[in-house]
Amino acid sequence: MSNNTLWAGRYEQAAAESLRRLNDSLPFDRRLYASDIACSAAYARALVGAGVLTADEADAITAGLDQVRAEFERGEFRPAPGDEDIHTAVERRLGEIIGPVAGKLHTGRSRNDQVAADLRHWQAAAIDRIVALVYALQRALIEQAKGHIETLMPGYTHVRAAQPVTAAHWLMSTFWMLARDATRWTATRDATLTSPLGSGALAGTPYAIDRQALAAEMGFVRVSPNSLDAVADRDFVAGFLYVASLMMVHLSRFAEDVILFSSPQYGFILLDERFTTGSSLMPQKQNPDVLELARGKAGRVAGHLAGLLNTLKGLPTGYNKDLQEDKEPLFDSADTLETLLPALIGVVETLRFDPDRMRAALDEGMLATDLADHLVARGVPFREAHGLVGRVVRRALESNVPLSALPLDEYRRISPVFGDDVRAVFDFAASVAKRNNFGGTAPDAVRGQIALAETWLNERLNAPNPS
Ligand code: ARG
Repeated sequence: MSNNTLWAGRYEQAAAESLRRLNDSLPFDRRLYASDIACSAAYARALVGAGVLTADEADAITAGLDQVRAEFERGEFRPAPGDEDIHTAVERRLGEIIGPVAGKLHTGRSRNDQVAADLRHWQAAAIDRIVALVYALQRALIEQAKGHIETLMPGYTHVRAAQPVTAAHWLMSTFWMLARDATRWTATRDATLTSPLGSGALAGTPYAIDRQALAAEMGFVRVSPNSLDAVADRDFVAGFLYVASLMMVHLSRFAEDVILFSSPQYGFILLDERFTTGSSLMPQKQNPDVLELARGKAGRVAGHLAGLLNTLKGLPTGYNKDLQEDKEPLFDSADTLETLLPALIGVVETLRFDPDRMRAALDEGMLATDLADHLVARGVPFREAHGLVGRVVRRALESNVPLSALPLDEYRRISPVFGDDVRAVFDFAASVAKRNNFGGTAPDAVRGQIALAETWLNERLNAPNPS
């Protein structure tokens, strides 16, 4: 192998094949090509401002970079043996196209500030794509919720039927988790848009490049205040992986609900055939693979977060090659979200509820709290009412009858405060309708909640880019 590495001047021997296989990042960082080329083109213009390049030289570099980009886009880019990473590869190819002037591009620049800039640039665009998918999922949740504002279902704690809720309320609970995720994505996007360009290898640059203008040209919103920090700062990647992990936790929890609710045992939800899979053996099966993968991939993304934090924790100041380990977890997490979310959106858009099955799953035990409230309305302290209703529940169990079928005198024996109208409590819709304070499950409250959610979403869909 020829010794055509970037550091060939100092070296007599070519790198060992085994080193190359370990060290080279081009196989995975080539997807940074567009960001790398955009940063380089902007940097060339900054070098004109600094008096390092003439305008003609910068034009030649820009035209050459355009050609390299076109080669990547057409799938025609051919890596050469010495192409260690995307930065090396682009510069090598640029030299082949425009000649020695290509060698001026790296003046005052290091791959250390370059890779940090490229990755930030790539990540900001990835966040934009992911946030658009999050909004689409939120829209699908709202649309489903609008159709089920009055649809009753059991609400659960400890996977035990607890109190009746509306299906819309259950759907919207995930909407708000995603709203917090979207807010975190926006904050991470902003943190990502700090430009390290001009930091050099670690100490800054002696050239009078206008860092602010360079940053603005790349869509960055600020410049890093410390070159030593800037070249090794991967907080933005950790931030991405944290936000991705927490969002995956939310998606996984939602998926778990839908897996349960669409199981034959519950039968609350029917999944569209296009979003389920069959079994190779058991002809009757319809499996919720999309949801199981949402649940499973949450572990994968959380693993990437744990992995990166461990990579970072022992690093001494400045760039260290360990930092090359930032890319695969980032790329894989972004790919995971961009593959998962469209399928999940499809699941939500096409699922159908079975309101009869949901209603059939309601039992009067879920109105025990309402029974206690009946006593509270008649002046009994809640703690006491709770105990009295507990005895009613036990009595009904002993007599093997539903609460509403227990004779009135049995109620009265437990407490004379139970009124003639106690049976009016056994109305699931009425129970739900009473919980109409802000944030509650009552149809009126949920209508307000959905209106709030639509405002929240529309503000963001109509907003100009947050940067
Ligand atoms: N491929 C490297 C990375 O991803 C680029 C930076 C290399 N810098 C260096 N000093 N070797 O981190």
